[in-house]
Amino acid sequence: MDYDLIPEKEFDALCVDASSSKTKYPAKQHARRVIKELDVKEGLIYLPGQTERLLEDSDQARVFRQRRYFFYLSGANFEGCTVTYEIGHDKLTLWIPYLEPRQVLWFGSRPSAAECQRRYDVDEVRYTTQLGEFLRSYAADPCSPPTVYILHPSQAPDLGASSSSSQTTKLRLDHAGLQPAMDRARVVKTGYEVAMIRRANDISSAAHRRVAERITRLSNEREIEAIVHAVCIANGARSQAYPVIAGSGANGSMLHYGDNNAPLENKQCVVLDAGCEWNCYASDITRTLPISGSFSPKAAAVHAIVQHMQDECIRQVRPGRPWRHVYLVAVEIAMDGLLKLGILKGPRQEVARAGTVAAFFPHGLGHHVGLDVHDVAGSLPLAAAAPASRGLQFDHGKRALVTPDMLAHILRVSNGKEPETAQESKRQHLLPNMVVTVEPGIYFCREYLEGYFLHDPIQSPFIDWDVLEGYYDVGGVRIEDCILVTHDGFENLTVAPKGDELLDVINGHGRHVNAN
Ligand code: GLY
Ligand code: MN
Repeated sequence: MDYDLIPEKEFDALCVDASSSKTKYPAKQHARRVIKELDVKEGLIYLPGQTERLLEDSDQARVFRQRRYFFYLSGANFEGCTVTYEIGHDKLTLWIPYLEPRQVLWFGSRPSAAECQRRYDVDEVRYTTQLGEFLRSYAADPCSPPTVYILHPSQAPDLGASSSSSQTTKLRLDHAGLQPAMDRARVVKTGYEVAMIRRANDISSAAHRRVAERITRLSNEREIEAIVHAVCIANGARSQAYPVIAGSGANGSMLHYGDNNAPLENKQCVVLDAGCEWNCYASDITRTLPISGSFSPKAAAVHAIVQHMQDECIRQVRPGRPWRHVYLVAVEIAMDGLLKLGILKGPRQEVARAGTVAAFFPHGLGHHVGLDVHDVAGSLPLAAAAPASRGLQFDHGKRALVTPDMLAHILRVSNGKEPETAQESKRQHLLPNMVVTVEPGIYFCREYLEGYFLHDPIQSPFIDWDVLEGYYDVGGVRIEDCILVTHDGFENLTVAPKGDELLDVINGHGRHVNAN
């Protein structure tokens, strides 16, 4: 197999691997941001990183994944570290484990203290063997009792075997304030973080392009997954930000399908949702490809609606814009499109009042992207949840289900016909340097549609079940890009081909040249 190797961009030193970059991970900048949000003058932030963990009943290590809050204040991506930040002294210290030579024999070395100092913008690098002593002397500080800010009670510092109970009680632990403060800091990205997310997008985009080049010659979903992994790993991105979703035919109607082992034969489309990580920063990209090289008329019609939803929503992205406003643009386009296809039927106003379009567009418009693919949202949710009724609610992480009832409520609120709930009033507005996905979709999931709406006296009359029957083979269509909010609008960080360019790549016609 050959791979798309991404040439490193000379103009962007941040794009090269963090370990070889002259640019340090901006841990100190992040620490100062956190303190601004925490709004305190004294105390200690204490964040232990992830340790090596074994598989249950096995001597084999689990795949290492660094704790994201720890990483944000250090940049260190290896086991057994801790980071402390002495707030009053503005001093950030990375504590790394001392590796005995026999451990190096088995597992290889870790970055030395000098190497860490070179890679990460921290004031000092020390060995964890000295951490207990440091904490004990901190606890004995005359300006007592010092507050230690931790994420969770389970991450409280261990003062070591020789600590007396009086020393332990001198540390006042606060596990209420740090996480919200870090979430507010993390939701707006630094330039370095944007460069990392951009690089992850470049590599994932190359993987999507390579799948498009091959799709007409592939025979099983698993080959798609293999290409994604191969291109990403060959470009230095060993981890995916989430499991690859390669759903063909009806599998494309399942939002987080993951088996990736069905034959492609006799299927119309494949939904490929895949994004790698670069230096712990995520990307998240979805394309829907015609397996034969061209969409069937029905698939083309649905794809055109979703592309229209995405184009219009991306155009809406700018500072100050409430996310719900952008989401509702997608809803309106989906409703008009499905009415035009005859899948939805009835007077537009009544269809809108029932929120029926959410049966086909059953999730929010997107989420933040950063150290996690569904990244922290600050203190306010990106999409304030609407109250659900009739038991049809489940929250699957940041991809909560949006039911017709919920959408009907959202539309009543947005038309001023119903007051919003206290929770809803706390909605988020976009800010420069946030990175969000814009990922509208339309799905024809027979189990979901027939299970909940076929016999629903409110929703069923607005769906033409005979027309719908002809669309089940389309499966689903989702299109997703990572969008950076800029000072006056947006920048699309995802360069995977889409639209006409995607069809040209699939059919080997090279890059699409716009006649205008
Ligand atoms: N790309 C997976 C998700 O956003 O849920
Ligand atoms: Mn996503």
